[in-house]
Amino acid sequence: MNNEKPVFELEEVSYSYLGRFPALCGITTQIIQGEKLAIIGSNGTGKSTLLSLLDGLIFPDSGKIRAFGRDLSEKEFRDEDFSREFRCSVGFVFQNPDVQLFCPTVKEDIIFGPLHLGFPREEVKKRLEKVVEVFDLGDLLERSPHQLSIGEKRKVSIASVLTIEPQVLLLDEPTAGLDPLTVRHIVDIILQENESGRTIITATHDMHIVGEIADCICCLGKERRIVRCGAAEELLADRVFLEQNNLIHMHAHRHKDKTHIHPHEHLDHHANEKIIPDQA
Ligand SMILES: Nc1ncnc2c1ncn2[C@@H]1O[C@H](COP(=O)(O)OP(=O)(O)O)[C@@H](O)[C@H]1O
Ligand SMILES: [Mg+2]
Repeated sequence: MNNEKPVFELEEVSYSYLGRFPALCGITTQIIQGEKLAIIGSNGTGKSTLLSLLDGLIFPDSGKIRAFGRDLSEKEFRDEDFSREFRCSVGFVFQNPDVQLFCPTVKEDIIFGPLHLGFPREEVKKRLEKVVEVFDLGDLLERSPHQLSIGEKRKVSIASVLTIEPQVLLLDEPTAGLDPLTVRHIVDIILQENESGRTIITATHDMHIVGEIADCICCLGKERRIVRCGAAEELLADRVFLEQNNLIHMHAHRHKDKTHIHPHEHLDHHANEKIIPDQA
């Protein structure tokens, strides 16, 4: 019926930490090449675990994951060619940039991936220049990543993955703790990367950005199972569903002597928008 090509296929995938703490139960889904998918769900529903499984950092206790038509298992990763090809194809930006960034300088962190994967020096230099321009990192290159602000750290960690130019980008809470302008910058970069053909999979509970960074949504629930998968527009319009899954909530606050109650969410952030004309 269609020529959509899955990059990932998951069949009844379950995972527990230390064999005792269930983190995902019976996940069956497909992720299609070129799509923008958001994995949403409240805290502890298994979003980060799912991304770690897709990145081959951990492996299911039961069930199967296939990536680009091959099994994603410890056995396959022992094949060096497969492992290298997979690492060139899939990039993972961790939830915590302090885990991602470990080099003495920002520049070394940004070029670590392509150098480690054996890309030629000239090519690495070109990729470095490109991300420095996109993220405006010129002044930070010689700084220690650990001395940066959270927004700067997050930009550096995304840049360090983009230099690999992976066809699939896994992003774990890429906008958490950022100011609105930095959120805007990161959302724009996600959209550009998708337009250039990359599959983008973002775990988030930031409902502010989901409408933009996803065509499809996969929602995980308290039982750590998929409670719903579908078109972003349709799912985001279902407020009852979002409330039931703790993604929006009623919010009470006081102004002078009056208490206001309204839904706390950010789904209609275009409601009061001002249109800024394009620069000529
Ligand atoms: N290293 C770990 N050891 C034990 N349990 C963990 C570990 N990491 C996550 N978990 C548990 O797995 C479940 C899913 O966690 P996680 O994937 O981090 O959820 P989310 O990213 O949606 O917040 C949670 O119940 C969490 O407590
Ligand atoms: Mg998480």
